[in-house]
Amino acid sequence: MSRAERKADHIRHALVTGQMREHGFEDVMFVHQSLPNTSVKNINLETNIGTMNVKTPMFINAMTGGGGDKTYAINKQLASVANECGLPIALGSQMSAIKDQSEVNTYKVVREVNRNGIIFANLGSEATSEQALRAVDMVGANALQVHLNVIQELVMPEGDRNFINAIKRIEEIVKVLQVPVIVKETGFGISKEAATLLKEVGVSIIDVSGFGGTNFSKIENERRQHPMSYFNDWGITTAAAIAEVKHGAPTTSIISSGGIQSAMDIAKSIALGASAVGMAGFLLSVLMNDGEEQLLNEIKLIHEDLTYIMVALGAETIPDLQKSKIVIKGNTHHWLNERGIS
Ligand code: FNR
Repeated sequence: MSRAERKADHIRHALVTGQMREHGFEDVMFVHQSLPNTSVKNINLETNIGTMNVKTPMFINAMTGGGGDKTYAINKQLASVANECGLPIALGSQMSAIKDQSEVNTYKVVREVNRNGIIFANLGSEATSEQALRAVDMVGANALQVHLNVIQELVMPEGDRNFINAIKRIEEIVKVLQVPVIVKETGFGISKEAATLLKEVGVSIIDVSGFGGTNFSKIENERRQHPMSYFNDWGITTAAAIAEVKHGAPTTSIISSGGIQSAMDIAKSIALGASAVGMAGFLLSVLMNDGEEQLLNEIKLIHEDLTYIMVALGAETIPDLQKSKIVIKGNTHHWLNERGIS
């Protein structure tokens, strides 16, 4: 199967098997405040992702990589939505374009359509610093995402089997690049131990990409004759992963992702310590099922809903929302207790 066919397969399976809603946010409750002392017009959604200032805490997370007309069309539509709504957008893995020049246009189109927007380049942790420089240059990216996807690779029959020295390559990439490096998971969550290692090599932004949304074990298992189903329930929920990273690397800028579908998921992510939130599978499914107009509408509604939630909490800014009062119950409480995270 070609890389383009495999990517199309991913999209098809992501839409069917993804978005499980087991991200742990059901265990996070806001404490109602009867005297919020603010109004809708005072709410400001601006935030910082590391040193990048952005108008809204939500962005379009990495999705479609590889070549082909379908990928090109999806990237063009996502870029147009990002441009219209002022959302940062991450590219899918650019490794295919680094190896095959004919695929470069699939990525360049995102910069062409979204001239002044914030774009994150994307490569896996197998990338060298020289490849990282090329990925950033390819689209004039404002940051580079380096993704970690051990479980997906193991479940993929043709996937990598050697994960030695990923942290060394990340350290080298951080040293060489002029733009910030975001290290992200791909739906299995970052632990406090991994976060500490990343912090030690100079990574300043971590995207937890936790369990509970798109599930790459399930997606890859759909294509296997003998499924490795023991990985289907594997991973740290998004809610727990935010707390893990905050504990393991307290000064990093935290991005929440993994199953984010609503303003309430965003608000809870921020209250747990994130400063921004990436959405992948959900936005893709709205785009594929209902089209670009409906996706624009959905993003507008999420911004409105987030504003109302912030009014109810009396949180006028994202830093205020980070300080809002929450109670954690159920499995997430148990997990954090067992892990010595308060
Ligand atoms: C992804 N994701 C991803 N991540 C990455 O860093 N590079 C990539 O190339 C891809 N490709 C990709 C394709 C498709 C079809 C999907 C749905 C997702 C992972 C994505 O960025 C995110 O980490 C996870 O999907 C979890 O978030 P959601 O989907 O639950 O919001």
